[in-house]
Amino acid sequence: MCGIVGILGATPVADRLLEGLKRLEYRGYDSAGICTEHDGELDRRRAPGKLANLAERLRADPLPGLIGIAHTRWATHGGPTEDNAHPHIAGDVSVVHNGIIENFRPLREELIADGRTFLSETDTEVVAHLVDRELKRGLGAREAVAAVLPRLHGAFALAVLVRTEPDVLFGARLGAPLTVGYGDGENYLGSDAHALAPLTQRIAYLEEGDWAEVRRDRVQIFDRDNATVEREIVNSGVFGHAADRGNYRHFMQKEIYEQPVVVAQTLRSYLQRLEGRVTLPIPESDLSDVRRVTVVACGTSFYAGMVARYWFEQFARVPVDIDVASEFRYRQPVMEPGGLALFISQSGETADTLAALRHARAEGQRIAVVCNVPTSSMAREADILLPTHAGPEIGVASTKAFTCQLAVLAALAANLARAKGKLSEAAEREIVRHLSEAPAAINGALAYDEAIEAMAGTVASARDVLYLGRGTDYPLALEGALKLKEISYIHAEGYAAGEMKHGPIALIDDAVPVIVIAPSGPLFEKTVSNMQEVRARGGRVILISDYDGVAAAGEGCIATITMPKVHPLIAPIVYAVPVQLLAYHVAVAKGTDVDQPRNLAKSVTVE
Ligand code: F6R
Repeated sequence: MCGIVGILGATPVADRLLEGLKRLEYRGYDSAGICTEHDGELDRRRAPGKLANLAERLRADPLPGLIGIAHTRWATHGGPTEDNAHPHIAGDVSVVHNGIIENFRPLREELIADGRTFLSETDTEVVAHLVDRELKRGLGAREAVAAVLPRLHGAFALAVLVRTEPDVLFGARLGAPLTVGYGDGENYLGSDAHALAPLTQRIAYLEEGDWAEVRRDRVQIFDRDNATVEREIVNSGVFGHAADRGNYRHFMQKEIYEQPVVVAQTLRSYLQRLEGRVTLPIPESDLSDVRRVTVVACGTSFYAGMVARYWFEQFARVPVDIDVASEFRYRQPVMEPGGLALFISQSGETADTLAALRHARAEGQRIAVVCNVPTSSMAREADILLPTHAGPEIGVASTKAFTCQLAVLAALAANLARAKGKLSEAAEREIVRHLSEAPAAINGALAYDEAIEAMAGTVASARDVLYLGRGTDYPLALEGALKLKEISYIHAEGYAAGEMKHGPIALIDDAVPVIVIAPSGPLFEKTVSNMQEVRARGGRVILISDYDGVAAAGEGCIATITMPKVHPLIAPIVYAVPVQLLAYHVAVAKGTDVDQPRNLAKSVTVE
């Protein structure tokens, strides 16, 4: 993953590079570093851990220079140590890298045989050595970079600084995003438009295989055959103000609380409430010939897709395949003409999902993307872009993006159903009415925050936790377990409630809290039966249901969480809230780093 920034400035760059890194910290926070050129030398500061450590180091030992490159790391090859922190330097060359150089081992052996010494365990260091070797063989910087790029296999975005040519930066992309920013007497490189937002809104997105020579007064872009190409300069529409936590203790908490507003905001662009119609930003006829939907996503976005599968099949009667993106291409899926491939992603940059998207396109599928970042790679590559309007999500654990994805997916299901002639006007009006009730119902769910906080201690002391649900509450059980794992580090699993007796019930004892998600509705009785099977074996159950559900089945549970009574269509949107709040309060009780949990990054741009 990792984030990279480069500045060829008219004034000193270190502070601005640091600011750019702050905006990229969502890509990784294992270590960070900056390298500049000044007084004819390359000079760098690096620090393991969060960016604050690098800031501290720079305060103690400032870094002058008008040109520099910077990096925030999510470790792939080599632990999160200072030696492995980027930028890497070999001779006259400094490099920062996002991605994985898959053939780094043979390259490293070749370079060692050539007398080169490596100071890190990273794959990246080979790039610095390769470019430096070409320089030492007599090539100029541009020729050296051009000679090295074809030797690199895998995925990379690179920024390269050469000591002997301190008025030029090189950038290259293959399988990982990189943008060029155009300033006033200055130019920039950045992993995304967001990183460069305080510097410029004028952005060109490099395409696959592109590389760039960036000078203060001009930028030249080349394609993979080294032919000069023009890439359109667009206005990123991303501005410099950094997201702030307001009065909330964590971004995650703030983002949970934003949900009534952002779900309403998202629904506004899909629902015509007065007419009782669901509209998408595409002509209706676009969907009438869809014969199969293939849903692909990762993590929380995948669970949103799992919920949507129930809706697509129930409303539109269209068959649905669903895969996690990291598995999708490798099972050689059969995709027939007329298929809609649907990719769901908060960031729009997740490497596996993006690769799956390109695979589906090559297989002749129409590409729909549900995405929260309109400038992202996936958004730009979509035939049908269905934006979520959640606003920037900073907490690593996804919350508001999930509920906004569900809102868009429900609208898509209704639209698909209408296009296929499976939804009457009256039924569509009902769907619009239920979806319109979601923001108020989320507000109602937030009212139970204190009650949930009060029971967090019970879960915080557990070593293992199970989540159970049926129907659309099954993906929610998986999402609950994921949320708890990632921010509180407690082992948790989600199961389809009916599946318990096929094995997992052996885990039940009085040390394992079992969280049952069971809104009253068609599947309530069945879920409650599974819950009683757990209780009969000494299991300690926390039941999340509505007033009727708690009245009917709450007795004997160690705790209950009472939600507003809602239509089953919006239950996954509303019940996401207690699941998120429970994970949040458990993590706070355990004292973990809620917004930046260990080992994770917000945007997963490596396979
Ligand atoms: C979990 C979480 C991750 C992401 C996953 C996909 O809280 O945030 O599981 O959902 O990495 O990311 P996007 O949606 O950006 O493709």
